[in-house]
Amino acid sequence: MRRSIVAGNWKMHKDHTEGAGLAREILAGLEGTEPASEVVLIPPFTTLPAVTDVTRGSIVKTGGQDLYYEDEGAFTGEISARMLKSLGCTYVLVGHSERRHILGERGDLLAKKLRAALKAGLVPIFCVGEVLEQREAGDAAAVVAAQIQEVLAGLSRDEIATTVVAYEPVWAIGTGRTATPQDAAEMHSGIRTVLEDLFTPELAESTVILYGGSVKPGNAAELMAEEEIDGVLVGGASLTASTFLGIIFPSP
Ligand code: 13P
Repeated sequence: MRRSIVAGNWKMHKDHTEGAGLAREILAGLEGTEPASEVVLIPPFTTLPAVTDVTRGSIVKTGGQDLYYEDEGAFTGEISARMLKSLGCTYVLVGHSERRHILGERGDLLAKKLRAALKAGLVPIFCVGEVLEQREAGDAAAVVAAQIQEVLAGLSRDEIATTVVAYEPVWAIGTGRTATPQDAAEMHSGIRTVLEDLFTPELAESTVILYGGSVKPGNAAELMAEEEIDGVLVGGASLTASTFLGIIFPSP
């Protein structure tokens, strides 16, 4: 049985005051409930301390949106895995499509970041996904397979067992256009086949794979009803407590 995760990636939204407020509202909405999914908040770096102050001791986990692979040093503007860990973070995103496409991050860098996260005891959420032209050309599965292979090949059994994968088709991010549950499930199953070839059927079967891209309260239930979809990585709809809670407790 794989665990389910609902993670909110706040991207570059919410300063520390707004972020603490949103985290408090989400916690208030969770009070007295037993969500079926693990709930994770992924605020900007400067907002993280305020959010971890609010969530400490609760069921809500936190994560960083990115990290650099060195422990410390002359790397202006960067944040290390150790810094995230010492704040109490459990997770860190690696290779989000906005890091790949806006900041130009590539597989070799992402592989180093992923290993640094694992070494520090963080759970990496490794993001993959094709752009629209690749999907329209029928190349989506091959593109995603290559993204998985170039970064995850060579991980140890323990490392892959810890890593979470998020499939986020780039054309579905922030566009209101969602992959159909069937399309997403098919890609997740393809990712599992790639993992099976790289590792073992057991490890592939136990890897948690999230879907991301325009997830809303109105489509969360049908996405998560798919056996292959273990949870969701939410952008825009995670910025308001009511919509995020509507995804944590989706109604069909
Ligand atoms: P949206 O939910 O805003 O489409 O963003 C998805 C995403 O990129 C989450 O990481």
